[in-house]
This record gives sequence, structure tokens and C-alpha cells, in this order.
Amino acid sequence: MDPAERNLSHRRPLLAAICALGACAWLGACAPHDGDAPALGNPEAGALVISRKACGSCHTIPGITGADGQVGPSLAGLGERHIIAGTLPNSRPNLEYYLLHPQEVVKGNYMPDQGLTARQARDAAAYLLELR
Ligand code: HEC
Repeated sequence: MDPAERNLSHRRPLLAAICALGACAWLGACAPHDGDAPALGNPEAGALVISRKACGSCHTIPGITGADGQVGPSLAGLGERHIIAGTLPNSRPNLEYYLLHPQEVVKGNYMPDQGLTARQARDAAAYLLELR
């Protein structure tokens, strides 16, 4: 085996590992990082999403520092609300859907699409549904 070839074959497992990690990050769907109940979302992660996306510039949101906006409705007690955005029955899937597509649900309303990923919407919904 010439030295160059030996070198390459030596590195192959490392390369494979790097590719696997890359694919994993790209898919964003590695089971071990998904927590115990991925379908239900993670409220703590949701609080971070809500802070980072500055939802509080428009909404008053209990438990989120600086979230005292007055553009949209207060989200206090959202978990006990029957209807969201004046049109959808309040449920986990409906709330997630609304967070992903507010302009599709109520065209022309003042809540812009926030560019959330499905994961971010799930986590944000988990946080909001705990507000009682
Ligand atoms: C530019 C202002 C603005 C931003 C930013 C914004 N919203 Fe809204 N949001 C609104 C307005 C206005 C409404 C009311 C829309 C309607 O009723 O049609 C609303 C409605 C909602 C509702 C339904 C509330 C209810 O009482 O039925 C939820 C939940 C919500 N927003 C969550 C969020 C989250 C989470 C974020 C951040 C990812 C966010 N919003 C960012 C303006 C905003």
C-alpha cells in the first residue's frame, strides 16, 4: 500500500463520523436530543424561543423578561383560552399551526409570520399552554 493510500484509509472512519454528525445536525432530528416527550414540546426551550424572537415586543407574556408589548393581545392565561386569534379552537396542534402561519390563519392581521421552525413552534406552544 503506498503511503498516501494508507493515510486516506486511516482517516475514513473519522470522515464518516463527521458526515454522520453533519447529516444529523442538518436533519435536526436526532432522537437522543429530543427529550422525553418530543411531540409535546419543551416549555423551557419555548421560553427561549419566545425571548429570542422578541414576541414580547408585541405581547405581554408572563414569565418572559421584558415581554410587555401592547400591539397584540396579552398571552396571560393562554392555556385556558377557548379560542385563539379569534378563530381557532385552542389546542396544541392549532396553536403550533397558528405560530407557524399566523398570516394564513387570519390574513392581513398584525402578527407577521415569525419564521419559526416546527420545533420552535412546538416548544413555544408548550410554554404558552402552561400559562394559566
Ligand atoms: C408585530 C407584532 C407581533 C409579534 C412580533 C408577534 N405577535 Fe403574536 N399576535 C400579534 C397580533 C396583532 C395578534 C392578534 C392577531 C389576531 O387576533 O388576528 C397576535 C396573536 C397571537 C396569538 C393568539 C393570541 C390570542 O389571544 O388569541 C398568539 C398565541 C401569539 N400571537 C403568539 C406569538 C408568539 C409566540 C410570537 C413570537 C414567536 C408572536 N406572537 C409575535 C402581534 C404579534
